[in-house]
Amino acid sequence: MKILMVCLGNICRSPLAEGILQHKATALNLHWHIDSAGTAAYKIGCQPHHLSQKVASLNGINISHQQCKQFVKEDMLYYDKIYVMDKSNYADVKDISKSLWNENKVDLLLNELYPLQQKEVPDPWYGAEDGYHKVYDMIDKACDVIINKYSTLHE
Ligand code: 4NP
Repeated sequence: MKILMVCLGNICRSPLAEGILQHKATALNLHWHIDSAGTAAYKIGCQPHHLSQKVASLNGINISHQQCKQFVKEDMLYYDKIYVMDKSNYADVKDISKSLWNENKVDLLLNELYPLQQKEVPDPWYGAEDGYHKVYDMIDKACDVIINKYSTLHE
């Protein structure tokens, strides 16, 4: 499986999603390619937000090696699944992908946990540490569903 996690900045939410899913896949010896990107990644090359790093670390996951990168339309061809954190990410991914857009590959991450409910992972960027913990818990539960769904099909 090749899975891309996408948010706006690739600083707060999608780095956590990449780290959490990678951690679960590695624990099960699944050789998946998991990555993350932002639709407006203005801090290209930078580490995730310090609070995303802190919350990941408190849960035993190191995301400090990750580097901020931009979502590009070719990602739509390469990845099997692209999970977005909110509806505006969905619209932005569609815009950027242009003719390469493939609706079957893209979904809101929380639709794995709450099918068809169109729930969003809120942006913790403007808030305090508590918001990062809440976002972590949401992403963690959704990643459990992804692992259960695809691990029997794809090594
Ligand atoms: P993310 O959060 O999309 O979860 O990485 C944000 C990061 C940066 C900004 C907004 C959201 N920003 O406006 O700089």
